[in-house]
Amino acid sequence: MADLKLVLQAVADTGGVDSLELASKLNTDHQKVVGAVKSLQSHEDLIKVEQRQSKRWDITEEGKEVVANGSHEARVYQVVPEEGITQAQIMSSVPNAKIGFSKAMSAKWIKMDKKAEGGPKVFRSADTIEDKVQLCLLKIQNLQLEDVPQDQRAELKKRKLISEVKVTSYFISKGDKFSLTVAKADVDLTPEMISSGSWKTKTFKPYNFDALGIQPPSGHLHPLLKVRAEYRQIFLEMGFSEMPTNNFVESSFWNFDALFQPQKHPARDAHDTFFVSDPANAQIFEEDYRQRVEKVHSEGGYGSLGYKCEWKTEEAKKNLLRTHTTAVSARMLYKTAQANSLPVKLFSIDRVFRNENLDATHLAEFHQIEGVVADRGLTLGDLMGVIHAFFLKLGITKLRFKPAYNPYTEPSMEIFSYHEGLKKWVEIGNSGVFRPEMLLPMGLPPDVAVIAWGLSLERPTMIKYGINNIRDLIGPRVNLQMVHDNPMCRLEKSRTAS
Ligand code: PHE
Repeated sequence: MADLKLVLQAVADTGGVDSLELASKLNTDHQKVVGAVKSLQSHEDLIKVEQRQSKRWDITEEGKEVVANGSHEARVYQVVPEEGITQAQIMSSVPNAKIGFSKAMSAKWIKMDKKAEGGPKVFRSADTIEDKVQLCLLKIQNLQLEDVPQDQRAELKKRKLISEVKVTSYFISKGDKFSLTVAKADVDLTPEMISSGSWKTKTFKPYNFDALGIQPPSGHLHPLLKVRAEYRQIFLEMGFSEMPTNNFVESSFWNFDALFQPQKHPARDAHDTFFVSDPANAQIFEEDYRQRVEKVHSEGGYGSLGYKCEWKTEEAKKNLLRTHTTAVSARMLYKTAQANSLPVKLFSIDRVFRNENLDATHLAEFHQIEGVVADRGLTLGDLMGVIHAFFLKLGITKLRFKPAYNPYTEPSMEIFSYHEGLKKWVEIGNSGVFRPEMLLPMGLPPDVAVIAWGLSLERPTMIKYGINNIRDLIGPRVNLQMVHDNPMCRLEKSRTAS
């Protein structure tokens, strides 16, 4: 960019100047002057600029050679000596001799004598010549364009010795707020400028509404989130509401005790569960409920014998990273009992933590998908029916149930589906009917049954996106390009699902 001050000075001196003219005056490139003009234009009313179109004649490479050595015809004339020369000799001694020869012939500078001694020869027929082509080109080079007649110019153009170029230049004159100095315009209006009032005297750079702006960086959903969105959609279609799962830290009470899981259960060992050291303990929960939980564990009740061993509040208070989202389901069922807001259909999809040995398919944290239905008179048949409807929406029709054990459900069933690719039955989830020892202390009416099922989010995601090692899906080894490239999740949902 040319010096802004020099441009302004030139405008002040002349009252108005063309950018091309200014470029040659400043002995600089035209584009640099144009750059300065554009920059000055961003200052409101500093200069007036008017765009101009003009034509310019440029001398071609061939034309430049003519300027230096004379026209092709003049060079032919020059090599013809007094005693004559053969045409072949001319051809081999002058560049562009073919054109030069015919032009020199028609200008009658040379002639051909076919009857000359020793065969046809070329002789000079003019004593002196004037190389007009070279002279015209020199004038054009010296910008004395008016001295070159129109027909000459056309001829030079036809001979491709000159070419016409269109040039855009700018006529620059003073604007209403013209000055010789440019104040650096402010770009940002700051809180300080507003509170001090200094903004009043500042000049701000005008908005450029034509600017394309910075390309906004776009994010990409991780495959787990894509699959989660699909499962959420299925639950929502089935009329389930989402449970608030935004607490990774849970008390042992909600994670285990409320679920009638004995305090001596091996899962409550630090080998299986991450306990939290700070804060190590949870707040006291509702006392009446705590007492009912203590009683059903230690003495039994509601027709149950209980575990017949001491139940300690200290143990229930211990904070941990929840090992399953069923802890949230327990909280929600307790709330439902207090609000007497039956029936309810609830679901959650969120993270859980287990102190497990890590391998290709297991990490210390994963996601659970869980569905819970509470209503009067629900049976195991209802549970199997709801699970069928749920998996049908995923396009899974062949299901089998296998008796299993959970401390908080009775009966409990593992869910298997027939894998067409593997040609075998694979476990896809766990389910059951919550025990009365869990529900009755919460205050749910005795005729209310709660059915529930759960599965992992990682497993269907790994199958869907063909990922064999869980470390390629979650953790520091994940290739972000994988997240970027993976397509949206489309589950082959059944159309007949209702
Ligand atoms: N909480 C169980 C698990 O962690 C899953 C489950 C949910 C089982 C609901 C029965 C009922 O595997």
